[in-house]
Amino acid sequence: MTPYSRGAVALHWLSALFVLAAIGVGLYMKNAPLPPKTMFALFQLHKSLGVTALGLAALRLVWRATHRPPPLPEALAPWERTAAHAGHALLYVLLIAVPVSGWVVVSASPLKLPTVLYGAIPWPHLPWFSTLEDKKGLEPLFKAIHDTGALVFIAVILGHGAAAVRHAVKGDVPLARMGFSFRRKQR
Ligand code: HEM
Ligand code: HEM
Repeated sequence: MTPYSRGAVALHWLSALFVLAAIGVGLYMKNAPLPPKTMFALFQLHKSLGVTALGLAALRLVWRATHRPPPLPEALAPWERTAAHAGHALLYVLLIAVPVSGWVVVSASPLKLPTVLYGAIPWPHLPWFSTLEDKKGLEPLFKAIHDTGALVFIAVILGHGAAAVRHAVKGDVPLARMGFSFRRKQR
């Protein structure tokens, strides 16, 4: 079994952590009845987690472009290989498209609310969207893209996690490829 490199493993789990945290906070802030001050703080936290996830996604893409992943095990059927490659490509697209669309929502909003990452680092709006004269159509359009994109992301992550666990149980693609091992190391 050839595992992914240590850098790929570290980036995979770190980016998964921030994406899952952004999803959790995003769903909570949008659906729970909250006082305005708490809601504002949660939006700031969501944007902080999301921008960090975007930075990690960019790093992952650079890593992926400069490092070859280990080949998939021979035991996989052709359709399983295609599904794995298509699923991973879709995850990379969503890793970029979902946070960028969120950034557009905030930039195109007529409310012009500032973004301060983790209460410390001021984060700019996207220039073209923030200076546009007539923003009426843009904010709702990108809200729809961000919210729908996030739902698709949740579905694809669930499918991806389920496939990983299914193959680990079957034994043809061990989770240890992505640095996860339940077995104790032999001395
Ligand atoms: C936000 C959540 C997640 C995202 C965005 C994500 C994304 C990805 C991507 C893009 C790859 C392909 C890496 C490459 O070849 O360049 C990958 C591989 C992998 N992921 Fe995830 N992942 C997530 C969560 C999970 C979870 C929860 C599990 C386990 C239950 C998991 C297990 C794996 C494994 C085992 C591989 C390697 C597949 C192989 O052996 O070829 N991932 N993931
Ligand atoms: C991987 C990164 C991200 C994920 C997975 C994500 C996910 C989500 C989710 C699940 C929601 C709630 C949707 C709903 O219940 O309607 C949401 C809403 C929102 N997110 Fe994100 N988000 C990410 C990044 C960002 C970023 C980087 C920003 C801005 C800088 C952002 C800004 C927003 C805004 C403004 C809303 C409220 C939109 C509305 O009112 O419909 N998000 N996000």
